[in-house]
Amino acid sequence: MSQLIPVEPFDCVVFGATGDLALRKLMPALYHRWRDGQIPENSRIVGASRSELDAASYRALVREKFIEFFPKEEIDETAWKGFIERVSYCPLDVDKADSNWPRLAGELDAAPGKKRVFYFALPPSLYGDVAANIVKAGLKTPETAVVLEKPIGSDLASARAINDAVGRSFEERQVFRIDHYLGKETVQNLLILRFANSIFEPVWNASAIDHVQITVNETVGAGSRAAYYDKSGALRDMVQNHLLQLLCLVAMEPPLDLVADTVRDEKIKVLRALRRFTAKCADEDTVRGQYRAGSVNLEPVAGYEEELGGPSRAETFVAIKAHVDNWRWAGVPFYLRTGKRMSERKSEIVIQFKDVAHSIVGKEAGKLAPTRLVIRLQPDEGVKLLLMTKEPGPGGLRLRYVPLNLSYAATFTERYPDAYERLLMAVVRGDLGLFMRRDEVEAAWSWVDGILEAWENDGGRVLPYPAGTDGPNRAAVLLGRDGREWFDGV
Ligand code: BG6
Repeated sequence: MSQLIPVEPFDCVVFGATGDLALRKLMPALYHRWRDGQIPENSRIVGASRSELDAASYRALVREKFIEFFPKEEIDETAWKGFIERVSYCPLDVDKADSNWPRLAGELDAAPGKKRVFYFALPPSLYGDVAANIVKAGLKTPETAVVLEKPIGSDLASARAINDAVGRSFEERQVFRIDHYLGKETVQNLLILRFANSIFEPVWNASAIDHVQITVNETVGAGSRAAYYDKSGALRDMVQNHLLQLLCLVAMEPPLDLVADTVRDEKIKVLRALRRFTAKCADEDTVRGQYRAGSVNLEPVAGYEEELGGPSRAETFVAIKAHVDNWRWAGVPFYLRTGKRMSERKSEIVIQFKDVAHSIVGKEAGKLAPTRLVIRLQPDEGVKLLLMTKEPGPGGLRLRYVPLNLSYAATFTERYPDAYERLLMAVVRGDLGLFMRRDEVEAAWSWVDGILEAWENDGGRVLPYPAGTDGPNRAAVLLGRDGREWFDGV
């Protein structure tokens, strides 16, 4: 059974309360934590946004959206009643200091020492003003935390400007920058797999590992988010944060413990060791694509430009050959790829070990495949170690490539909490370890900026790919020319 670590009572204000993130992720996450008994009675949740709603209509909206995104059976009526009673609403123009702030203050508990969380489910351009308005309205207490959703900026300069602006109102210990991948079970398990088992660390380096692949593929398209997505593209939307965080967890040195700054200190060393791109190597080592009409899971789907309603050079797919220039990883490429409207939804890390030094079996036994450790983040969460094995039976030696398979579904029968559930409770507990420190965000942007600059000057070579495929062929060539291929299962 999973263990519930109770949190202290808290007040949580969600800015952008009628938006997609609040209704699809945050309110359901808070409901689940309430239903599981983690949220104490004396806690309050306040939705705040421009819409002129009253508490009753906001509560109805929260329920309507919950039912849209979750099976109805997830609602336990008694638990729902208790949860929704704690939800109130305040119409507010967050970026205006003379808006309804006094009313918001009235919704909050003035008891000293009570944790206050302000969740910014807002466009990042507002973060600085909103942080200042919280202070002006007298709502900042020593126990206040502000939670910033990605993207923190669209390049290094804008990220710094946002961090500076928020930093004028809140200390770094009060700022929780979310990368929801860090809240996923399987992502957390990466550290345990690497550092709580003795067999991996001795071979986790350039002498035993040939290369690493990190794939985060989605079948969804940009859809209704196309207007935001078009300014961002896959590099900013996925690589700068989620894929680089995964890379850090794979590549970092063993931290002393799991205390926030110990882990973050190790991650930042990896980000700083990432080799910068020049125009020439960006041309050779990055691939951009954009989906055209096609079919996903046998359903016909529109192309990206049709969804957007106009021409665009935004990449909906990117593949990158990256290098971590340090002692451990010298000469080991990290191939990253992510895309929308791919053939299947799959987030996976593949650690491919070097070939055996010498084959002791004849060709007739079959080709030797390299040992691979496949860490499946979603769906079908689990870890596989792919090994060559002798097929049982007489009649000569035949080899087969088979997995040692740790399937989460078969091993753990409980529901795994969504990443936002864990992250919200971590904010309330003040546990910064699962959040990005300012210097991490900026180091990630600094590396991404190198690619953006190189792309800026190459005229925007974005290759088309039909929806429902694995991206442009050049993504296969990126590995093919190194004598390697993307691992897509046996
Ligand atoms: C978000 C991106 O951060 O992550 C989205 O902005 C993407 O474009 C999403 O779809 C993927 O998250 P998950 O948890 O569904 O893998």
